[in-house]
Order: sequence, then structure tokens, then C-alpha cells
Amino acid sequence: MNRKSLVSIADYSEEDILRLIGVAEIFEKNPNRKLLEGKVCATLFFEPSTRTRLSFETAVNRMGGRIIGFSDAATTSSSKGETLKDTIMMVSNYADLIIMRHHLEGAARYASEVTGVPIINAGDGANQHPTQTMLDIYSIYKTQGTLENLEITMVGDLKYGRTVHSLITGMSHFNPVFHFVAPDELKIPDLYKNFCDKKGIRYHEYTDFSEDVINRSDIIYMTRVQRERFTDLMEYEKVKNVYILRNSMLSNSKDNLRILHPLPRVNEIAYDVDSNPKAYYIEQAKNGVFARQAIICDVLGIE
Ligand code: CP
Repeated sequence: MNRKSLVSIADYSEEDILRLIGVAEIFEKNPNRKLLEGKVCATLFFEPSTRTRLSFETAVNRMGGRIIGFSDAATTSSSKGETLKDTIMMVSNYADLIIMRHHLEGAARYASEVTGVPIINAGDGANQHPTQTMLDIYSIYKTQGTLENLEITMVGDLKYGRTVHSLITGMSHFNPVFHFVAPDELKIPDLYKNFCDKKGIRYHEYTDFSEDVINRSDIIYMTRVQRERFTDLMEYEKVKNVYILRNSMLSNSKDNLRILHPLPRVNEIAYDVDSNPKAYYIEQAKNGVFARQAIICDVLGIE
């Protein structure tokens, strides 16, 4: 694997995460820094995206780099049967950095093994979404003033939600208590519970999204039920609206509570929450530009 690729948030130590937060803060003060002049960055999106692709492209543009790529694999030669390996080797002829999203778990790691060009994983199936995690952690740090000892409630599709899986790993350095709220069909996989057990991280599981758990939380991390990961759409229909956060449910929540969501939302946060000062998901997405500027510089070895 190319050492400078970012395929999993586990590639970053606690020190790396704290250092990248510091770099993101510098970019937030002034995002227009011409650090990528002469560099070409490829965004290869085999799955749909709004925020991840556009915030990466904004990050590159603000740093003076050039973008090539695609947002719909149907327009590329992969639709004629070209393999991922060949696509990655071709794009490596053209670009200094490859940012890719793919529906197959492990696709980014595989890509990093067939090229010397740094790969950034912009989401691989239900597995990992490490750059989302960096912006989530940056958002948590900005809103809480610390990453340590927080009560973090994750709600919704904890089985297929790759942002949840990455965030558990990324926050594991900072002594969190996790509250996992999910229906039986979408419970957090044993892999992540075993990970918490090994690291001595406390967690609790619930099927009810109760005011008790809301009122204990410093962060509520809402997630969408991932329709695209279901093989049986009847199963999706059963759980799609299982939890809806409404403003009235926040009356007795902590002052420092912030509500995050990786977005897109479908129906899990009612629109009446948007005007509550504890709603942070729009600013969270904006933080993605600064966190991704920091990551791009890190993988390219730019100080
Ligand atoms: N959070 C996230 O990955 O959003 P997009 O799917 O729009 O990129």
C-alpha cells in the first residue's frame, strides 16, 4: 500500500488527528492558499455524492489545483467492463492524487495497492468514510471545545452506516461513552462492539430513542437508513422511518448538545429542528472543506 494513502481512519493516530484539526483551523481562517499549483487531483465517484465530491473539489480549487474525474461511472469505460485496477492505473498516468468512492468494501485499499499515487477513500460500501470522520471530529472539537470524555449517541442505521463505523474508530482515542440506538435489523455490527471491548470503551445499546438518552448526550449523530445497501426493499420499508428527531424532543437536552448528521437526510430530522441552535449539520458539512484541505496536504506531504 502507498504509505501516504488514507483508506481508513485507523491509519491516523491520536496525534495525527489532533495535528489535522490544527491544520483545518488554519484553513478555516483562510482557505485560499495556493499550495496545489501544478497538481492534478482526480475525483472518481463510482457512487453518488453531493457533499464529499463537491467539498473535495472546493478544497482543491481553493488551493489552486486542477480537478479531473467523474461523478457517474456509467459515463466511463468501467461500463464497458474495464476493471478497477485498469481504471486506477490509467488515472495514475494523469493525476497526482486520486480521491475515490466505490460501492465495494475494500475498494480503496485495493486501489492503494495497485498504484503509487496516493488514494483517499471517499467511502467504500458500508465499510469506512475516513474523511467524513475527520470533519465530524473537527465539528465535535469546535462545538465541545474538547474531544475527551464525551457522551456520543449514534442513531439509525448502525449496520450499514460507514460514517458511524469510522467515527467509532476515530473517537476511540478520546475515552467516549457511546450510546447506540438502532432497530434490531440495523444494530451495530459485532466487529465494532468487539473493538470497543478491546479498547475498554463503554457503550450501551437501545432500540428506543428515548428522552433519557437524548438528555445525557453531548453529541447526537443521526444517520439515514441506507436504502442502497438493502437487497430486500421490503426490509427497507419496515425500518426507513424508525427514528425521527423532532424539536420537542430536545426541550431538556444539555446546553452543549449538538446534533450532527453526515447527510443527506431523508426523514430522520424534522425540519423544525433546523432553527434550534443545537442543530449543527449544515455547519458540519461546511467544515468538510477545511478538514479535506488538511487531509489533501497531509497525503501529498505539503507542509
Ligand atoms: N456525507 C456524505 O458522504 O455525503 P455525500 O454522499 O453527499 O457525499
